[in-house]
Amino acid sequence: MEIINVHDYDEMSRKCAQFIAGKITSSERIVLGLPTGGTPLKMYHYLAQIINENNIDMSHVYTVNLDEYVGLDGSHEASYRHYMQTAFFDKVNIPDENTFIPNGKASDLEKEAADYDRLIEELGGIDLMIMGIGRNGHIAFNEPGTPFDQGTHVIQLTQNTIEANARFFESDDEVPGYALTMGLQTMMNAKSIVLLASGEKKKDALFRMIEGEVTEDLPASILQKHSDVTVITDTEI
Ligand code: F6R
Repeated sequence: MEIINVHDYDEMSRKCAQFIAGKITSSERIVLGLPTGGTPLKMYHYLAQIINENNIDMSHVYTVNLDEYVGLDGSHEASYRHYMQTAFFDKVNIPDENTFIPNGKASDLEKEAADYDRLIEELGGIDLMIMGIGRNGHIAFNEPGTPFDQGTHVIQLTQNTIEANARFFESDDEVPGYALTMGLQTMMNAKSIVLLASGEKKKDALFRMIEGEVTEDLPASILQKHSDVTVITDTEI
């Protein structure tokens, strides 16, 4: 695992955006795994800026998002589809049909999950996966205790995650109780991974992820077993 220490959130965001832009321009075709949440917001801002200032072609870029709330569609402001449109997709010239996010309104969620893994396979797998980390060490919505060997699946969110995400809703009660998420196996299949973490709140999870035991109690610890992981962080560990 390579750890890149930066001074602050701005530098973390800029560095990651430059790295992704470099990968996009040097690839003939690329599949990106993308996160939502507070952490990557400024990274998307810089990435869109770099793409537009340099007229970078996006027709060969495919994106698969990590997760989506069950019960929300793209018209809901807290849905991850809405987040991605406003934070990134609407700002750049990526074809709509190249962007994929699990459908939280699917009538058969188990089928939606299996179809999502099949889609990733058909795309040829994820070349570069960007992710954040939760304070309890979750990655995507894989909460502590999630088996390491799962593909995309439906998960019940913990109270901890509901509270952390309530800031995007009017109240805690509005946060959906379930989500569709890529599994840890899906994420580990990515060819390379960049994890972003900013702030003291992430310190404990980061430390355990890097130095601790590989355990399902801290889902992110599985990344110790991946051969190409870079962590960009302003958190001193
Ligand atoms: C979001 C996701 C989550 C977040 C994590 C950190 O797609 O997969 O695992 O990365 O909850 O969230 P923030 O960045 O809001 O601290």
